Amino acid sequence: MANKKISIGLFGFGVVGQGLYDVLNHSQGLSASINTICVKDRNKKRKIDLFYFTYEKNDILNRKDIDVVVELIDNAQDALEIVTTAMKNGINVVTANKKMLADNFELLFKLQQENGVSLIYEGAVGGSIPIIRNLEEYYDNELLSSIRGLLNGSCNYILTCMELNNMSFADALAKAQQNGFAETDAWLDVAGFDTLNKLCLLTAHAFGVILKPEQVLTLGIQNISDDDILYARAKGLRIKLLATARKVGEKLHVFAMPHFVSKDSEFYNALYENNAIEVEGAFSDKQYFVGKGAGSYPTGSAVLSDISALTYKYRYGYRKLKKVKSQLGENLNAVHLLDNSINQKVYIRYKDKAELNGIEILEIDESYESKKINYLVATVSLKSLFHLKESRSQTVFVCAVS
Ligand SMILES: NC(=O)c1ccc[n+]([C@@H]2O[C@H](COP(=O)([O-])OP(=O)(O)OC[C@H]3O[C@@H](n4cnc5c(N)ncnc54)[C@H](OP(=O)(O)O)[C@@H]3O)[C@@H](O)[C@H]2O)c1
Repeated sequence: MANKKISIGLFGFGVVGQGLYDVLNHSQGLSASINTICVKDRNKKRKIDLFYFTYEKNDILNRKDIDVVVELIDNAQDALEIVTTAMKNGINVVTANKKMLADNFELLFKLQQENGVSLIYEGAVGGSIPIIRNLEEYYDNELLSSIRGLLNGSCNYILTCMELNNMSFADALAKAQQNGFAETDAWLDVAGFDTLNKLCLLTAHAFGVILKPEQVLTLGIQNISDDDILYARAKGLRIKLLATARKVGEKLHVFAMPHFVSKDSEFYNALYENNAIEVEGAFSDKQYFVGKGAGSYPTGSAVLSDISALTYKYRYGYRKLKKVKSQLGENLNAVHLLDNSINQKVYIRYKDKAELNGIEILEIDESYESKKINYLVATVSLKSLFHLKESRSQTVFVCAVS
């Protein structure tokens, strides 16, 4: 593929698909062009000539002259079908679909090995931030101790608008959607599921451990109120939705939830749709990556970088994953490496005390009840917060106090 012009079969022409189209048109170094674009809605107006479009996936998947399938649709189930068919047909794939990847990581890993094809997805985590290839290549031999990330551009945009511009949650979310940062189903963003999917991808590439999203504690910002913002502001803190994967001995602590961060944290100044990722190594100490985490051109440029990587036959080596698999053997599942039995100091704002039932509270530092706001600052068992995730609580807001 090195010297010939790459022919791209593109699925999806929404925020990211159109971003890729524009970025590709402005790129001078890459010899690639979009051959066909498969979309869903026949009645939608398109910005470019209809000649490019099809509504039938096999018009791309069965073609012999397509070198790369670029999958940028907003439906994880359809995406899985497209991506697995392309791989089985021997076509390399680029995708930004974190939900499809996190839900099907094991299968997609196997299909790459069985079919000798490459599946790469830098745009799926951190938008424009080059993190996955860095974890695969640069940090391959580094003894990583933790990776933490502010991974959802919409949540960070909403939190920043609430904190700096005094906007309500609903107005800030609407603005994030207008700007194209939010997922089609915004619940995936605000309830933390998008962050969770990205966290699972980072855990696989940083530590070689494949976790299923349902195994990981995740709490979002959907119940945040102005009172929580005021509480943080009064203490000189900001609220950020942070994902953490930390190695402790042979075990991993993995979870995602809102955190109070202070001025001396690099996350404090990551604002609006920016994402930030902190990688900590045993010898390298902390390193930070900051950049646009969502949006048309930032994500489009990450996708373009992946297409370019395919010109020199790039594929993830999955060295850490293969090592963990060989250590575990066939009988032990990687979930045994996950340790959810940790304690964490948190701020819990609630309406009714009954909502705290089921949360194992170990020690209370602060407790406040008034007509306007009720909250606790307490050390709790992390595991006992799972039921808030499962019950989709619509009132309780939990934020880690580091
Ligand atoms: N937006 C971001 O900032 C961002 C950042 C990182 C990653 N991502 C990921 O990138 C992917 C695309 O996101 P987006 O924001 O570009 O979504 P979007 O703006 O909603 O666009 C989705 C596109 O997918 C097409 N589509 C849906 N189902 C299809 C199917 N079965 N076959 C063919 N086309 C289909 C739609 O077709 P029609 O045009 O006909 O409706 C539309 O063009 C998602 O996986 C998302 O998680 C997005």
